[in-house]
Order: sequence, then structure tokens, then C-alpha cells
Amino acid sequence: MSKFYAEEVTGVHHWTDRLFSFTTTRDAGLRFKNGQFVMIGLEVDGRPLMRAYSIASPNYEEQLQFFSIKVPDGPLTSRLQHLQKGDTLMISRKPTGTLVLDDLKPGRNLYLFSTGTGLAPFLSVIQDPDTYERFEKVVLLHGVRHEKDLAYREFITGELLEHEYLSEQIRNQLIYYPCVTREPFIHQGRITELAASGQLARDLGLPELNPETDRAMICGSPAMLKDISAMLDARGFHISPRMGDAGDYVIERAFVD
Ligand code: A2P
Repeated sequence: MSKFYAEEVTGVHHWTDRLFSFTTTRDAGLRFKNGQFVMIGLEVDGRPLMRAYSIASPNYEEQLQFFSIKVPDGPLTSRLQHLQKGDTLMISRKPTGTLVLDDLKPGRNLYLFSTGTGLAPFLSVIQDPDTYERFEKVVLLHGVRHEKDLAYREFITGELLEHEYLSEQIRNQLIYYPCVTREPFIHQGRITELAASGQLARDLGLPELNPETDRAMICGSPAMLKDISAMLDARGFHISPRMGDAGDYVIERAFVD
């Protein structure tokens, strides 16, 4: 049996010249936890060229959705950005990853820290009923350079509130906190600066980040992971030591090439 499923592209959406999303068919045999990633790729010169992609759609949806950057000379994304409806993609059969609810200790508030395409796994997590069972408040932070890079903003603040099963939980428990660094915006600055200055807690009307009550997931560039982890560590949070072993927070690199 092949290591990959062959799936068909069912839609492509370009957000900006640097960001796009695509949907594919989903094999009935593919099972995953919200927050996990798969390897996605194309056959190039007769060989599979694969990269890790977080699944942005929740695990009860019939199709799969992915959110990607376009890197002009990136081996895979330079090709993927030209995807068209009807094209075939290879998708690995074994989803994996650390951004899963099971690896967090119980808590009151869940903070989802993301920058750029690091938002992807959290789109799946915020559509998981378990997220709202386990936490009272779920704070989704998305940091980008420019306001136009706030992909999924309309979805999160509009369509999601009408969610078939979760509209009540989402309306009452989810707080979306977009921030922009390179132009004026309601929340301007890096997530790290907004958290460190106390601005984040003031804006949210929640207490300062505290390991007694709060849990976190982080997804972004290596530098962002390092900085947010350092901020949480300084406040006494403990990272999940390994998959299957719960901690106060979990991290994963936003995958880019
Ligand atoms: P900045 O504009 O100051 O670089 P990118 O598009 O490069 O992935 O960046 C996405 C967002 O993440 C930008 O707003 C960027 O801010 C921010 N960012 C970059 N590095 C860090 C970091 N170490 N900690 C927090 N945010 C970061």
C-alpha cells in the first residue's frame, strides 16, 4: 500500500500575493486529532516532494483544508501556489503533531499564540467541541505584518459564529485577538510585546498569564516560538516534555519552505 493518499484539489483561495488556502477531498480512512499535521506534496521528476502542513479544517469535516505561504523559490510552495481545482495532491496517511488538547493539563483559559501561517492548526482547534468542554475561555492570537495578512478574519468573526454545532460555545468562549506590526491597527505590535507590557491582559479583561489557570499552544517561526516560550517559562509555565505527556503548553513550528 502506498504511504500516500491521492486527493483532488476542490478549491483554492488566494488571500494575498504571499498567502493562500486550498481544500482537498479526504479519504474516509484518514483519522486525525485537531491540531495535527500531515505531509503534503506533489510528484516532481518522478519523486514525491513533501512538506508538513497543519490541517486547518476540523476532523469532522468531509474535506481537508490547508493554509500556506508562497515562497517564490520554495521547492514545493512555488509549485503549490499554482494549484487548480481538479489537480491531484499526495497526502500522508499518518497525521502527527504536538498541538493537541490531550497534551495540555486541565486549566481555565487556553491561549493559542500564532503568527503568519501558524494560525492553521488553531483553525482546527477552535472548531473542536472538546476545546470548549475543557476551557472556559479560548483566546486566539494571530500576529501578522499587515492587516491584509489577517487571513480567516472574516471567517472567525462571522461565519464561525453561525457554526452548526458550536455557535453558542464560540460566541461565549472564543476571543479573537488579531495584531499587526507594520501599520496602525487596534492591536499594534508583536504578540510578545503586547503580552509583556500588560496590554494584552487589559484588552482581554483577563488576568495576566498564570500557570495556575492558563494553558497555551504556540505555532509560528522558530524565533517566535523561542520568544513566547521564554515569556511563558519566565512566568513559571512548563512545556509538555514529549508527545503524550501533558504540560502547561505545547509548541510547533509553522512549516514553511
Ligand atoms: P515583525 O513585523 O516585527 O517582523 P512573518 O510574516 O515574518 O512570519 O511575521 C509574522 C508576524 O510575526 C509579524 O507581525 C512579525 O513581526 C511577527 N514576529 C516575527 N518574529 C517574532 C517573534 N520573535 N516574536 C513575536 N512575533 C514575531
